[in-house]
Amino acid sequence: MLLSQVALKWVALKALTGLSLLPLMALLIVYSEIEAPSFNRKNFDPEYDYIIVGGGSAGAVVASRLSEDPTVKVLLLEAGGAQSALHDVPLLAAEFQKTRVDWQYKTVPQDVACFGLDNRQSQWPRGKVLGGSSVLNYMLYVRGNRKDYDFWDTGMGCVGWSWREVFPYFLKSENNRDPDILRNGYHVSGGPLTIERAPFRSPLGEAFVAAGETLGYPRGDYNGHIQTRFDIPQGTVEDGKRVSTAKAFLYKARKRPNLHILTNAKVLKLVLEGKRCVGVVFRFRGFPHVVHALQEVILSAGAINSPQILMLSGIGPSQHLQSLGIPVVADLPVGRNLHDHIGAAGLSFHINQTFSVVRKRVDIDKVIQYVFKKRGPLTLLGGVEGVGFLKTKYNNDSGDWPDAEIHFVSSSPAGDGGATIKKVMGISDEFFDRVYRPHLHQDSFTLYPVLLRPQSRGYVKLFSPDPDDPPLINPRYLTKNRDVLTLVEAMKQCFAIGISEPFRKFNAQPFNMVFPGCEIYPVHSDEYLACMARTYTATIYHPVGTCKMGDPADPSTVVDTQLRVKGISGLRVVDASIIPKIPSGNTNAPVIMVAERAADLIKGIRSAHLPDGSILYVPSDLANSLFQDNSLL
Ligand SMILES: Cc1cc2nc3c(=O)[nH]c(=O)nc-3n(C[C@H](O)[C@H](O)[C@H](O)COP(=O)(O)OP(=O)(O)OC[C@H]3O[C@@H](n4cnc5c(N)ncnc54)[C@H](O)[C@@H]3O)c2cc1C
Ligand SMILES: *[C@@H]1O[C@H](CO)[C@@H](O)[C@H](O)[C@H]1NC(C)=O
Ligand SMILES: *[C@@H]1O[C@H](CO)[C@@H](O)[C@H](O)[C@H]1NC(C)=O
Repeated sequence: MLLSQVALKWVALKALTGLSLLPLMALLIVYSEIEAPSFNRKNFDPEYDYIIVGGGSAGAVVASRLSEDPTVKVLLLEAGGAQSALHDVPLLAAEFQKTRVDWQYKTVPQDVACFGLDNRQSQWPRGKVLGGSSVLNYMLYVRGNRKDYDFWDTGMGCVGWSWREVFPYFLKSENNRDPDILRNGYHVSGGPLTIERAPFRSPLGEAFVAAGETLGYPRGDYNGHIQTRFDIPQGTVEDGKRVSTAKAFLYKARKRPNLHILTNAKVLKLVLEGKRCVGVVFRFRGFPHVVHALQEVILSAGAINSPQILMLSGIGPSQHLQSLGIPVVADLPVGRNLHDHIGAAGLSFHINQTFSVVRKRVDIDKVIQYVFKKRGPLTLLGGVEGVGFLKTKYNNDSGDWPDAEIHFVSSSPAGDGGATIKKVMGISDEFFDRVYRPHLHQDSFTLYPVLLRPQSRGYVKLFSPDPDDPPLINPRYLTKNRDVLTLVEAMKQCFAIGISEPFRKFNAQPFNMVFPGCEIYPVHSDEYLACMARTYTATIYHPVGTCKMGDPADPSTVVDTQLRVKGISGLRVVDASIIPKIPSGNTNAPVIMVAERAADLIKGIRSAHLPDGSILYVPSDLANSLFQDNSLL
C-alpha cells in the first residue's frame, strides 16, 4: 500500500465515526482521482447552425454527432450543471434523487394506484445535469425486443424504425467489454458507450439466474438472439464507474471549437417566426438571452420537459393552451400518450446469510476496495444483481416477446432501515410501519416485477404559463385493468422464483407482511396481489410518448418519422418523448439509439448500415455473421 493510501485509510477511519457514507466517499474520491471535467463556459455566439436543448441521454449524443462535422456550429444548452465523481459510484444511484441534479417531479395523486404513497403521488426523478437521467439511472443496458420496433414500423406508422433499421444504431454507440457476449453476433466494441457487467457478484445473483431456469427461462444475453431469459445484468459502466452519456459522448467532444456547451442554461421557450423555429430564449447567469438557429432547434429535454417547452411556445392542444392564455401556433396532441413502466410491490424473502449490500455498505473496507480497485459491492448497478424477462398468460404472442421483467436486488425495502424507499418512493409512514418495519435490517432479497407493455395512458399538461412551474404529470397508472392482471401474474412468478430450489440453500422464506387495505382479501389470492400492486405502485422511471412519432396524417402524432414537429419547420424532438410505444425493456439504450439515428437523419446520411446495404460502420466480422444469420433481420 502506498503511503498516501495508508494516510487515506486513517482519515477515512477517523471520518467514519462522525460521517455518513456520502461525505466519506466524496472525501476519498476527491483525494484519490481527478475530478470530472468542468463545463463552465461563460460566453456564446449570437447564432449557431444547430441548437440542442437538453444535454441528457439523447441530447449529449446529438451534440456529439452533429459537431463531428467541423464546418457545423453547435450549441448545447443544459439546465443543470456538470456531474461530480461521486455520481459515478454505481451502488449509490438512488442517493442522488432529491438533490440538485434532480428536477424532483411528482405526479398528481393517482385515482386507482399508489395508495401506499404519500398523497397517492408517484415521485418522478429526472436528471437535471449534463448527462440528464443517465446520471441518475440504474445503468441497466437493455435494448428491448425486435418486435417492439417492428411494431413501430408496421403497426404505428413509424416507417424506417423496424428492428432491422434500428439495430445498427444500437451497435454504433456500443463498446462492449464482456468477452462472454461480445462475439455472439449482437454486440460490437469500439463505440463511445462502454457496456459491461459489474465486477462484483454475490451468490444470490447466480441463484436468481438458476431459479429462472427452474421455471423454464434459459440463462444468457437478453440483448441477443432471444430476450426471454435471465442473466447477470449488463450496464453502462466502465471499470466499476457509471458511464453517463455526458461521459461517453461529450468529454472528448467538448474540446471541439465548433461545439459550445452551456450548463446552468435553462431554455424558457422557442423563438418562432410564423411557422418556423428560429431560435430559443434561455436564462443564463440570471438573465434571459436569445440565440438564433440557422438550421434547426433540436429539443432533447426529455419526456416531461420537451412537451412543456413546446406548450409554453404555443405548440400543443389548442384548448389547453387557450385556457392558459397562450397563443396557439400549432394545434398538436403534445403531452398526450404519456406512459411508463411500473412495478408492483416487490416480493421479499428472508435468508440465513448476509449478502445484503445495501445495509452493509457503510463498511470502510468496501469503500477502500472501491476507491482503490473499483471492485466490490459498490460496483453493483444500483444494487440490481439479476434481470429476468418473463411471459405471463396475458401475453398473446407465442414467440419471444416478454411482457414482464424482474429486477432482482439482494436486500429489501427495510434492508437499510427504510431511508431510501421513503425518500425515493415517497412511501407513507403508516404503510412502512405496517409492512416493512418488522423486517428492518434483516438479511433478505427482493424480486421486483415490472410491467413491460402497459395499456394505461396519461398526459403532461402545463400548470401555468410560467416556465418555472413544474408541469402537471398524470400517468393514470393502472387505469386499464389488464395492467393489474398482468402484474399479478408477474408477481406470482416472482413468488415461484423466490421459493424455487436454488434459493433453498439460503433457507429463503417469504416476508410475512399484510398490506394495509388489502386485509379483506385471502392472502395470495389474485385479488390480494392486485391490491398490493395498487398500494405499492412504483415508477420504474421510464416515461415516454409525449411527442409521439408516426404518420403525420395520424392525428395522435406530434412528430413525423424524421422527428420533425408537424407543421413547424426548423424544429425536431429527439428524446424519450418521441417513442410511440414503450419498448419491452429499460429505456436508456433505446433513447440513445433514437439519438444516434436522429443525428444521421439530420445529417442526411446513414452511417450505420446493415450488410444488405452499404456497410459503413458495422465491423466486417460482425457483418459476416449477420449475413449468415438471417433470423437477425
Ligand atoms: C432513477 C432512474 C433510474 C433509471 N434506471 C434506468 C436503467 O437502469 N436503465 C435504463 O435503460 N433506463 C433507466 N432509466 C431511464 C433512462 O435513464 C431515461 O429513459 C433516459 O435517460 C431518458 O433520456 P432523455 O434524453 O429522454 O431525457 P433526460 O436524460 O432526462 O435528458 C433531458 C435533459 O434535458 C435537460 N432539460 C430539461 N429541461 C430543460 C430546459 N428547459 N432547458 C435546458 N435543459 C433542459 C435536463 O436537465 C436533462 O439533462 C432510469 C431513469 C431514472 C430517473
Ligand atoms: C395482441 O394484443 C394486441 C394489443 O392488445 C392486439 O393489438 C393484437 O391484435 C393481439 N393479437 C392477437 C393475436 O390476439
Ligand atoms: C441456511 O439454510 C439452509 C437450508 O436450511 C442450510 O442448508 C444452510 O446450512 C444454512 N446456512 C447457514 C449459513 O446457516
